[in-house]
Amino acid sequence: MGAKVSKVVFPVAGMGSRFLPATKASPKEMMPVVDKPLIQYAVEEAVAAGMTDLIFITGRNKRAIEDHFDKAYEVESELAARGKEDLLKLVQGILPKHVNCIYIRQVEPLGLGHAVLCARPVVGDQPFGVILADDLIDGEPPIMRQMAAIHERLQCSVLGVEEIPPEHSDRYGIIMPKALGEDLDEVLGIVEKPSPEASPSRIAVVGRYILTARIFSHLEKLAPGSGGEIQLTDAIESLLQEERVVAHRFKGTRYDCGSKLGYLAATIAYGRKHPEIGKEFEDMLSRLLR
Ligand code: UTP
Repeated sequence: MGAKVSKVVFPVAGMGSRFLPATKASPKEMMPVVDKPLIQYAVEEAVAAGMTDLIFITGRNKRAIEDHFDKAYEVESELAARGKEDLLKLVQGILPKHVNCIYIRQVEPLGLGHAVLCARPVVGDQPFGVILADDLIDGEPPIMRQMAAIHERLQCSVLGVEEIPPEHSDRYGIIMPKALGEDLDEVLGIVEKPSPEASPSRIAVVGRYILTARIFSHLEKLAPGSGGEIQLTDAIESLLQEERVVAHRFKGTRYDCGSKLGYLAATIAYGRKHPEIGKEFEDMLSRLLR
C-alpha cells in the first residue's frame, strides 16, 4: 500500500455560462441543492476520502466560496444569542478542524487544464485528487474514497468514469478502455468531446480524478485544444504515453449540476431523501404532478 492522497483541487474558476443570469455575480458552485451549496458536497466527499489540504482554484466573483468556509462570527453570535443551538452546530460544522483551505486565483479562465496547473506550487510532487463540484455524485462509499482505495492499491492515476448515451460523447472526455475487472478499465487512450462517430467508446470521464504530479509537466507543454482552452484531457492523453492510467466505473448516481436539467434532477433526488422535508416534498411532488 502506498501513501494516502492528502491534497485535493477544486477548480471553481469557470464562467458558469449555462446558468446565466444566476451566475452573473455569484459562483455556480454556491448554488444550493436543497440546503447545501454544491461546493460543500464536494468538500464533504474529499474529507470522507481522508483528504486534508483543500486547494480551491478561484477567479472573479468567487469570494462567496471563501466566505462560506471561513468562520462567520456575526452569524454564530446571532444564532447563539437566539438560542438556536442546532443551527449554530450546523454552521460551525461546515468544515472539520483538521483540514486546511488554500485559495489560488486563476487570473484568466483558460480552461480546466490550466486551472489544475495553477495548483502546482501547492501540490508539489504528491499525487492529488480533483473534484468538479458541478458533478454531484451520490454514492456509498463516497466516490473519491472508492477512487483513493484504487490509487493506494495500484499507485497510478485514476479517472472516475461512467457509461453515457452515444449521442452525448461530444460533452465529455471519452476513453478507449480495456477491461481489467467489473469496475476497472485500463485507459489506452482519451479524447476530448469527440463526435459520436469518432468516439472510441461510450465511457466518459466525469468530474473526479486522482492524478500523479507528472500531469503538471504535460499540462505546461500544452497548447490550447478544444474550445481554445487548455484541456486536462489532452494532458492525460500525453501522460498515458509514459505512465499507467486506470478508470474506475464508480458505484453511484451522478447529477450534472452544470446543466439546468441535471441540477433540477439533483434537487428532486436530494429533496426526496432529505431527513427534514423528504416526506412532505414527496407528497408535494405527487400533488404537483397529478
Ligand atoms: P465547465 O466546462 O463546466 O465550464 O468547467 P464552466 O465555465 O464552469 O461552465 P459553462 O460551461 O460556462 O456553463 C468544468 C470545471 O472546470 C472549472 C469550472 O469551474 C468547472 O468546475 N474551470 C473551467 C476552471 O476552474 N477554470 C477554467 O478556466 C475553466
